[in-house]
Amino acid sequence: MTNQQSPIGLFDSGVGGLTVYKALQKHLPQESLVYFGDTARLPYGTKSPETVQLYCKQILEFLLERHKVKMVVVACNSATAMSLEYLQSISPVPVVGVIEPGASRALAISQNHRIGLVATEGTVRSEAYQKSLKAQSQADVFCYAKPTPMFVNLVEESIVDQKVISTLLNYYLEDFKSKDIDTLILGCTHFPLLQSQIQDYFGESLQVVDSAETTASFVKKMLKDKGLLHSQDAEAQHQIYVSDCADRFIRIAKSVLQVPELKAHLHNFTH
Ligand code: DGL
Repeated sequence: MTNQQSPIGLFDSGVGGLTVYKALQKHLPQESLVYFGDTARLPYGTKSPETVQLYCKQILEFLLERHKVKMVVVACNSATAMSLEYLQSISPVPVVGVIEPGASRALAISQNHRIGLVATEGTVRSEAYQKSLKAQSQADVFCYAKPTPMFVNLVEESIVDQKVISTLLNYYLEDFKSKDIDTLILGCTHFPLLQSQIQDYFGESLQVVDSAETTASFVKKMLKDKGLLHSQDAEAQHQIYVSDCADRFIRIAKSVLQVPELKAHLHNFTH
């Protein structure tokens, strides 16, 4: 049985979901969190919906059975795009994705309703953002979407070489400049880690938005509405699990979360 004191579970294919983890820590400091990074099977964005759904189902079961979570946050756009509805249909606890919050934030910011989207192949192919923008807006919305999968590698490889970064920024983003877009959605939870470089690339011509903060506000509201907000003053417990190479994950995660020490446990689904 879960209750108000149970943790919130969240997951991503790798370190990207830590951008959501960080926002949850900030907006809900009293809540305990269990993070799962599926490092053995990253990336999700190039895989089929069937494969991603299977991975997500296994992680959902792990979070429910082993950690008795009261809510699950799919801190990955690709997993949200390919499996949110499926997870919601099988989960006894609420499951929240990052796409609806991301689209809602972009609509709140855009003046001209011309919005750009950078994401993984799977997220772009699913058209989940386009559908969500349409569903949440009264006016017509133009969305120019493009897969930028190498941005995931930049983050997972911790590449800081400015030459490599600017070559990739130029390669992927140049054509956005002629689309009269005033808002760009970072439709992958890895991309906020490149937010300042992407914003600098465009200067003031458009605003770059991500879904982490808005997702945290959505989660807070949903916990409140369902009477599930943590009700005690006890210190929050945070646990991190990965499916492979914990040391490598920790090295990157420490710099993402800007903490000196971090522990990750291993949980592998294949053996
Ligand atoms: N962080 C994942 C997302 O938000 C993408 C990384 C991957 O392709 O696994 O889409």
